[in-house]
Amino acid sequence: MKVTSICCLGAGYVGGPTMAMIAAKCPDIRVTVCDMNQGRIDAWNSDELPVYEPGLDEVVRSARGRNLHFTTEIKQSIAEADLIFVSVGTPTKSFGIGAGRAADLRYIEAAARLIAEVSHGNKIIVEKSTIPVKTASAIEAILAANATTEATFQVLSNPEFLAEGTAVRDLESPDRILIGGKPTPEGEAAVEALVSVYANWIPREKIITTNLWSSELSKLVANAFLAQRISSINSISALCEATGADVDEVARAIGTDSRIGPKFLKSSVGFGGSCFQKDLLNLVYLCESFGLPQAADYWRQVIAMNDWQKSRFVEKIVRTLFNTLVGKRIAILGFAFKKDTNDTRESPAIHICRDLLHERAHLAIYDPRVPGETIRADLLEAGVEASIIDEQVEICPDPYAAAESAHALATLTEWDEFRTLDLARIRDLMLKPAFVFDGRAILPHDELQALGFSPFTIGKGD
Ligand code: NAD
Ligand code: UGA
Repeated sequence: MKVTSICCLGAGYVGGPTMAMIAAKCPDIRVTVCDMNQGRIDAWNSDELPVYEPGLDEVVRSARGRNLHFTTEIKQSIAEADLIFVSVGTPTKSFGIGAGRAADLRYIEAAARLIAEVSHGNKIIVEKSTIPVKTASAIEAILAANATTEATFQVLSNPEFLAEGTAVRDLESPDRILIGGKPTPEGEAAVEALVSVYANWIPREKIITTNLWSSELSKLVANAFLAQRISSINSISALCEATGADVDEVARAIGTDSRIGPKFLKSSVGFGGSCFQKDLLNLVYLCESFGLPQAADYWRQVIAMNDWQKSRFVEKIVRTLFNTLVGKRIAILGFAFKKDTNDTRESPAIHICRDLLHERAHLAIYDPRVPGETIRADLLEAGVEASIIDEQVEICPDPYAAAESAHALATLTEWDEFRTLDLARIRDLMLKPAFVFDGRAILPHDELQALGFSPFTIGKGD
């Protein structure tokens, strides 16, 4: 089975960059990315891509119009493809059974029904979205019940492990590619067909093949383990603040143990992003559904620790500012959930800003990539009233405008440009005492102190 034409349903943060990389590395394969969101498709076809990722412009430009196409012609694209990636959203269900925990699989089901409706011949369907274990059997059931007689399908799992902000690097040289399939001759042939697509640029020894369920489950488990490391180090950050230890020093000390390793030990105001919380909740729900409440409780605690980290940061600000924020201006540096992305989904900044606004603070927010309308929309969705946003939120063009006449400054995203701020200028702009709350531990604590700031750094004792 040789793949010559690929289609991807979903032109989001995963579908767009992933398919762009496949097209760039496989010039002989025609790659079509489709979405019903006309605005998104128009943006992918423009110079202003809908996703900000370092290096992505070059990858898209190298293949777009040659063998990479973005379109809303979904049915035609499915009909023409031999391999179809499903890369639609799988948000947390907000209603009914499993509300707040289970994955909402409506987009997956709709995609499967659409594929069944328009497919003829042999098709390989690839789950790229993150889904609960056993979803492949639901997709197979929908395809089998709705397909035309001459269509046959093989369903594979091929989860995506890219992180936002480093998507291009992660796609170009991933730690591994994971492909799950059925142990039948047809299933194995489909796995081999997908392996040979990736083998165009990825060494074979990095391409892991497993059974379907191991592959589906491994994606949730990988995110759960990563999130658990952050919650673990964040729990220790509180202990460091109480004892005078320094969490970065502790992280370095334990991270040199090769069994622990140095990555994902950076204490912060909490993890954000569209996936960690969603996928943890999904795992919790799976454990509950399979009658394993102790396992569910264990993973639930990772989220509880993350929520506590956000609220304890707000409490620290309130207590330090003499227990009242009423009418006080607070400069907020960073709103994205991490640096090098314009994505704000589940950003800890949303929760922290919401709680500061409820304390009646005035917020002067600066983020180098997140537009003001996104910040306002996120706060509205988080339950802040429109009138409060109008009166108490100012979007600033740079960190200095935000710091002007501010009682306090808080770093909520670790953008590189915050590491090289002119701190003396910031101090002169601020009211005194000039309080700094470094939620990402990126500012030079001792220098801040020497310059006359009153600094608090997450995970660092007074
Ligand atoms: P997203 O919301 O950015 O994009 C999903 C897109 O799918 C939307 O544009 C939507 O309009 C489109 N869509 C929905 N139904 C469709 C259909 N039937 N046909 C065509 N398009 C359709 O989501 P995302 O961040 O790209 O995530 C997609 C999946 O990948 C999720 O399951 C997520 O958990 C997983 N994932 C995300 C990341 C990440 O960094 N964002 C990383 C790894 C895995
Ligand atoms: C994460 C995983 O890293 C990817 O492998 C996975 O594919 C993806 O989720 C997904 O499934 O969506 P992402 O959320 O894009 O990627 O970014 P991360 O680098 O994992 O950061 C997540 C959050 O954790 C950010 O808010 C970040 O600031 C925070 N973080 C990360 C810390 O607080 N400390 C750390 O040491 C690392």
